[in-house]
Amino acid sequence: MSLRLIQGGRDDASETGLLIEGAAEIVTMAGGLRRGPAQADPAVLVAGAGAEGGMAVASWQGRIVAAGTREAVEAEARAQSLPVERFTRFDARGGTVTPGLIDPHTHLLFAGSRENEFRLRQQGAGYLEILAAGGGILSTVAATRAASDDDLLAHGRRWLTEMLGHGVTTVEAKSGYGLDVATELRLLEVAGRLDEDGPVSVVPTFLGAHAVPAEYRGRPDGTEAYVASIVDQQLPAVAAQGRARSCDVFCERGVFSVEQSRRILEAGLLHGLEPRLHADELAPSGGAELAAELGARSADHLAAPSRAGIAALAAAAAGDRPVVATLLPATSWTLMADHYAPARLLIERGVPVALATDFNPGTCPSPNLPLVLTVACLELKLTAAEALAAVTVNAAHALGLGDEVGSIEPGKVADLVVWRVPTYAQIPYWAGADLVAAVVKAGRRVLVRG
Ligand code: NIG
Ligand code: FE
Repeated sequence: MSLRLIQGGRDDASETGLLIEGAAEIVTMAGGLRRGPAQADPAVLVAGAGAEGGMAVASWQGRIVAAGTREAVEAEARAQSLPVERFTRFDARGGTVTPGLIDPHTHLLFAGSRENEFRLRQQGAGYLEILAAGGGILSTVAATRAASDDDLLAHGRRWLTEMLGHGVTTVEAKSGYGLDVATELRLLEVAGRLDEDGPVSVVPTFLGAHAVPAEYRGRPDGTEAYVASIVDQQLPAVAAQGRARSCDVFCERGVFSVEQSRRILEAGLLHGLEPRLHADELAPSGGAELAAELGARSADHLAAPSRAGIAALAAAAAGDRPVVATLLPATSWTLMADHYAPARLLIERGVPVALATDFNPGTCPSPNLPLVLTVACLELKLTAAEALAAVTVNAAHALGLGDEVGSIEPGKVADLVVWRVPTYAQIPYWAGADLVAAVVKAGRRVLVRG
């Protein structure tokens, strides 16, 4: 088996029309954001008797035309006067087609690694204890400040290529290892350049409030002074640069308080940055409540929300601006936590659930989103369908991209994965396996397993 990575910019018109045929299943995820019982509905199309060409998806000029039996898809393309006979054909060989996966929470850009901390945690050291001693996030900040733009670009390309190999076509990328104006801007700029280079779409998020940097720590008012520098210096510079879409805060007891987080996120809103939060990752800290209060796009982690926090998310979900609960179970696994996010309760209460890797050098050194699906099924007790909805349609909504990507519906961007398994239920089941046969980005095959 060899992997062929097809290079080229997004304006390469060589695959104006593409027809994927011969699939056993197409998981469309059509029908919008999933919450409650709908989280379990993959809107799957299965090849029945008489579907000789198997199931098919067609795209034209980067957008989905139709999905269904090959005969029906060809008929629809003809009805739209599209030259379906000249479409590039790709045989899915009895595999499964899904929307391109979306990883809605990563810390993609950093320098160095933290295997020393991995060992310390095995021996019982706590995550916040390591941070308080100047390690953890702060050691990555030191390495990242010292890295060149070229180092960061090469690092980003390496890991995006790996993510693409796992079927991921859109990745959110947070800054947060600069913690000063210049380095935060550099990280956001690199994320934006990686997006322009493609093929994976990169959505930059500003996370100046990831930790209090060393230069502020010795002072009695250190955290407050750093919060003021985020509001007065970093945020205006980030807004003027124009790369970041949203603003994130590590709202956690011992890091940034609810009140400090609110101040930063409200200032971000004034600059047009949508709020999102690291909420209740380690202990109930009021993060879920704040996410609901601010109408955040997503509240992430939620490994330890309070009952009031869950109630606040449930109330938001019942309104017209639900907060997506973006759960990161591979982080709980890496931290050897004794509890995971209450995913079943959140779904029962009608809260839409997304999943992400949290890829970062401290709490989740894995870029493998399908592996996160496995952990979500085994530890959060999600079904395969619920987990897949969490990394497609719901992840798209968590990033504010629900109208463009995350499902296979006419008019949406043709981001697709062909999997070497006959049913989507096998995607989380073959834990850690390499199941991707091909990836299509905006109608172009960008990866094909030869
Ligand atoms: O989501 N908790 C804050 N941020 C990351 C970890 C970052 C790091 O340890 O480098 C997280 O777990
Ligand atoms: Fe994170």
